Amino acid sequence: MAEEPLNLEEFAALLPFTPETLPLAVGWLLAALRPGMPRPVAYLTGEQGTGKSTSGQMLAGVIEGARAPLRQAPETLRDLGPTTAAGWVLALDNLSGMPGWLSDALCRIVTGDAQVTRALYTDDDVNVLTYQRPVLLTGIDLGALRNDLAERMLPLELQPIPRHKRRTAGALWAAYERAHPRILGALLDLAAAVWAELPHAAAELTERPRLADFAELLHALDRVTGWHSLDAVTGAQDALNDAVLDGHPVAAALRAWALSPTFPAGGWSGTMTELHDLLGDRGGKFTKGWPQTPAILSARITHIAPALRSRGIHAGRVSGSNKNGKLWAVTYTPAP
Ligand SMILES: Nc1ncnc2c1ncn2[C@@H]1O[C@H](COP(=O)(O)OP(=O)(O)OP(=O)(O)O)[C@@H](O)[C@H]1O
Ligand SMILES: [Mg+2]
Repeated sequence: MAEEPLNLEEFAALLPFTPETLPLAVGWLLAALRPGMPRPVAYLTGEQGTGKSTSGQMLAGVIEGARAPLRQAPETLRDLGPTTAAGWVLALDNLSGMPGWLSDALCRIVTGDAQVTRALYTDDDVNVLTYQRPVLLTGIDLGALRNDLAERMLPLELQPIPRHKRRTAGALWAAYERAHPRILGALLDLAAAVWAELPHAAAELTERPRLADFAELLHALDRVTGWHSLDAVTGAQDALNDAVLDGHPVAAALRAWALSPTFPAGGWSGTMTELHDLLGDRGGKFTKGWPQTPAILSARITHIAPALRSRGIHAGRVSGSNKNGKLWAVTYTPAP
């Protein structure tokens, strides 16, 4: 690069990101500036008092304006529309869990799919909301995430702020407001350099994860800055993947079985009824949320299959059947 476009020192000094998470936060900001692309959901997490709310507001505020507030999570799908429409970035503070409807809605907001709800006080009028927005969440623990949302998440873990580094909210915000125009300017300079690199990055990438546009953008960012943001995001998502598997009773049961000495060396095959009995007897049926029927079990396995595959466990339909039904196979290949 002839000219150094990166002048984000002020941003790095104000926000408590680490050398690992700073490139990801910058990548998220760049994606938020670029219209019409699926972007990952920035998820700021960390212990109590690690600056999640402050950093979330500052991160969104680079684009939204220095004083744009974070919002409380809406209670229903109907309330999500106005919350989303209120700004460009949908930034929700202090999430303490991830209800299924919100998980679905966030997946749709990431990809820009339409969302239809019945209009208030009518029987047949509907509101169609089509939003594709950058999303940012803060929270200590979202609990068990569904795989489809986890694949769209960009976890940014904040480290505890040492006492000698903690600053008062007043001093921090005054400094942020002074630095804001320069931070935004530096980000836009960086964006111009990254946009110019995008065609080369796209040509160079051979593997693309779920959010392929974002992967190309990070690769272009790495080419401009010399960072390793694409590797960092793969690592961060790997950790999230483990959390998804641990929080999913079917995935946890399958994984425990596949790693146990009783798992057949060449893999297992049989019907879903047999698998339901087998995993149930291994303790599955005593777990909360265990599928009551083989049909539900097969749906849950299909749902979690991509996350299991990334851990070397392949579970799916194979050709053939026996007197009890169609055949499934489970195999385990430990990662090299
Ligand atoms: N980047 C920072 N540098 C120094 N001090 C900070 C920084 N960010 C926040 N603080 C200080 O830490 C305090 C707590 O920050 P904040 O409320 O954002 O944390 P939190 O993780 O959201 O907390 P909670 O878990 O209670 O929601 C702030 O009031 C501020 O004094
Ligand atoms: Mg907070």
